[in-house]
Amino acid sequence: MNSGQIRRSSFAEKDKEKMDKAKIEKIQKILTPSIPNSSKKCKLTLPDGEEIELPVLIGKAGPPMIDIRNLYSLSGYFTFDPGFTCTGSCVSEITFIDGEKGELLYRGYKIQDLANNCDFVDICYLLLYGALPSEKDKIKFDETMKNEMLVHEQLISFYKGFQSGAHPMAIMVGVVGALSAFFHNDVDVKDAIQREIAAIRIVAKIPMIAAIAYRTAMGLPIVYPKKGLSYTENFLYMMFADPMDPDYKVDKFLAEVLDKILILHADHEQNASTATVRIAGSSIANPFACIAAGIASLWGPAHGGANEAVLDMLDQIGSVDNISACVEKAKDKNSNFRLMGFGHRVYKNYDPRAEIMKDLCHDVFNYLNIEDNMYLNVGMALEKIALSDKYFIDRKLYPNVDYYSGIVLDAIGIPKSMFTVIFALARSIGWIVQWREMMSESSIKIGRPRQLYVGHTQREITKIEERVDSYEQLSDLEPKSKKGFNIHKP
Ligand code: CMC
Repeated sequence: MNSGQIRRSSFAEKDKEKMDKAKIEKIQKILTPSIPNSSKKCKLTLPDGEEIELPVLIGKAGPPMIDIRNLYSLSGYFTFDPGFTCTGSCVSEITFIDGEKGELLYRGYKIQDLANNCDFVDICYLLLYGALPSEKDKIKFDETMKNEMLVHEQLISFYKGFQSGAHPMAIMVGVVGALSAFFHNDVDVKDAIQREIAAIRIVAKIPMIAAIAYRTAMGLPIVYPKKGLSYTENFLYMMFADPMDPDYKVDKFLAEVLDKILILHADHEQNASTATVRIAGSSIANPFACIAAGIASLWGPAHGGANEAVLDMLDQIGSVDNISACVEKAKDKNSNFRLMGFGHRVYKNYDPRAEIMKDLCHDVFNYLNIEDNMYLNVGMALEKIALSDKYFIDRKLYPNVDYYSGIVLDAIGIPKSMFTVIFALARSIGWIVQWREMMSESSIKIGRPRQLYVGHTQREITKIEERVDSYEQLSDLEPKSKKGFNIHKP
C-alpha cells in the first residue's frame, strides 16, 4: 500500500494473518491473574452454633478477603451486601487504590508519576500490555491506533437518527452499542487475537465517535481525524475545527492538559461502570455492546455524570455568599441533595486525581489569563468550608476527580454536556482492559448476584370480578413492613 493511501482498517484479513499470534496469546496469559492459594482460614459461627471454616485470600495489597465461594454449600447461607460495599468480584492486576492513603496505581505506577511523565497513548499501552512502551513500541502502537481511528461511514448514518440538542451521552450509548453490529460475526471473544483487535478498535475509534456525538448535538458538520495529530489533538480537532478554515490549529498546551485529564480517568478498578462492563461480558456478550453498557452506567450523576452536575451546582450557588446554605442543604438528610464532586466509596482521603486536577485548573487559568472565574472562586471556597465542617470530616468526604474536572474542561472551552463523554472516552481503555482480563480467564463465571426475597410467598389467583383495586391489593404487604421490612409504596 502506498503511503498516504486510505486503508479501511489495520485488521483486514491479510493483516490479521501477519499478527504475532503466539506473542499476543503469551502477553494475555501473563496478564491474566489467578486466585492466590490460601493457607489462612477464618471461622464463622452459624446461628445454630455450628462452626465452619472459610479460606482467607491475601492479595499483593489491600485488605484480605474471606473467600465465600463455598459458603452456601457449607452452611446454607448467602451473604447480603447491596452496592458491593465489601465484596470482591474478581482478581485483577490492573489498578490499585489505597482509599485510606489516597493513592492510585496503574499497573504499579503512581498516578502522579504517570501524569507527569507520560501521555495518554503511553497509558493505553501500559494498561493493555502491562509495561510502558519503548520508543519503537510506541511508534508501532501509534500507527496501529491511527490506522484504526476512522469509523465505518455507515456508522455515521446512525447519528442522523438523533435530533440536534440530544445529549451527547445518549448518542454515545446508542452509537457505541451500534458498533457491535459492525463487529460481531468476526469477534470470537475466546480468541486472544480477536480480543486484542476489539481493544484497539474501541480505544482508537472512540475519539471520533465522541466528537461526532458533539457535532450531531450541535448540528455541525463532521470533521475527520488527521494522521499528523496526536490522539488527544485529533479529538480536539474533530470537536472544534471549522471545515471551512484549513488553518485551524489545535492549541498544544490545552491538548496537553486534556491529555492529562484522560490519563487521570483511564481506569479505576471495580467502579460501577467497570463492574457493569464485566457483568455484561460475563455472559460472553459482544465487547462493544458491553462498553455501551459501561457508558450507560457512567452517565449517572453518582458516577461519571458528577462532573456535569458539579457545574450545575456551582451555577446554582452562583456566589461565595450562598455557599453556607448549600453546605447546610447537603447535610440535611431530608433534602436529597449532595455536594456533587464530593465523597467516594473507596477514597477516605483526598482523591489524588482531584489534587492533580486542581493544579491543572490553576495552570489553565494562568495560561488563559483568566483572573476572575465564578466556578473556580466558588469551587475553592466551597471546598474549604466543607473540609472544615464536622459533617464532612466525620464521614471522610473529600473532593473527588469530578470536583475540579468540569471547571478545567469549561475553561478549555468544552461544553458541559461533553464532560461525561470525555470521561467515557478516557475510561474506554480501562473498560476494555478489564473486560479482556476477565475474558482471558480459563473459566468465566457469569455475574449473577443473589437476593433477599421479601415479597409474597406463593398465592392463588382470584377471578378478575372478585379482585379489589390493584393499589388496594398492595395493602397485603403492609403487615410485613411492620415486622421490619421496608416497603416503598408507589
Ligand atoms: N454530600 C453530602 N453527604 C454525602 C456525600 C455528599 N457528596 N457523599 C456521601 N455523603 C454522606 C451520606 O449521606 C452518608 O451519610 P450517613 O452516614 O449520615 O448516612 C455518608 O456520607 C456515606 O455515604 P454513602 O452514600 O453511604 O457512600 P457511598 O460510598 O455509597 O457513595 C458516592 C459514594 C460517590 C456515590 C457519594 O459520595 C456521592 O453521592 N457523592 C456525590 C456524587 C459524586 O461526586 N460522584 C462522583 C464519584 S467519583 C467519580 C467516579 O468514580 O465516578
